[in-house]
Amino acid sequence: MRGMNYAAPAVLLLAAAVSGCRGETSEDPPIVPIRNMYNQPKYSMQQSNDYFADHRNMRPPVDGTISREHEIDPRVATGVLEDNTGYVLTIPPEVVKASGGMDAMLVRGKERYGIYCSACHGLSGAGDGIVVKRNAGMPAPPSYHDPKIGISHWPDGRLYATIENGKGNMPAYGPQTTVQDRWAIVAYVRALEVSQAQVANVEKKP
Ligand code: HEC
Repeated sequence: MRGMNYAAPAVLLLAAAVSGCRGETSEDPPIVPIRNMYNQPKYSMQQSNDYFADHRNMRPPVDGTISREHEIDPRVATGVLEDNTGYVLTIPPEVVKASGGMDAMLVRGKERYGIYCSACHGLSGAGDGIVVKRNAGMPAPPSYHDPKIGISHWPDGRLYATIENGKGNMPAYGPQTTVQDRWAIVAYVRALEVSQAQVANVEKKP
């Protein structure tokens, strides 16, 4: 019984000591018993920095950086006309310009096509990619060159939108690719069409 007489005030005191600092402001530096990562060497904003020739600690953004809020032309971003009446007919010239011309775009498009599309559609677009060959349980995509699909009559924006949003069993590639890369892939699919049409012509000749 005697023990309890002391214990009760001691508990109260402890509770007061622990909760005392909560919500109160103080000019004193905080007491951090285990410092771990509390103090780290770092550069602060506006500080000067001898590492860079201009001594600026905050680096200017890389050339061509656009802010997240920056709105790009919705037609360029979606491949769909603003009034929703149809697709953008051709690859927007400003994208070709920004990509460094059509030749550069085709080089980039070929590379991106190899990464994102060839696994299913095959390197020539015949719909015979490795996923199909290994029979990975996915329905084979159609050949781009199948007249039933008629991609050669599609406006470029429709191809673009298919890459961005996917179609049926095909996943959307919008989240993994940039606007510029999607248009580059469109350009490359067009190049595949031309080359495969040549192949077909040669094969048809007796
Ligand atoms: C995971 C496999 C897979 C990948 C990767 C893939 N596709 Fe497809 N794609 C399909 C399948 C399956 C279809 C048939 C979709 C359907 O009609 O259900 C298809 C259909 C299409 C069509 C015809 C759509 C239509 O309306 O008939 C186009 C064009 C196309 N893909 C382009 C692309 C391009 C360009 C890429 C690369 C960015 C790509 N695909 C990547 C599986 C894939």
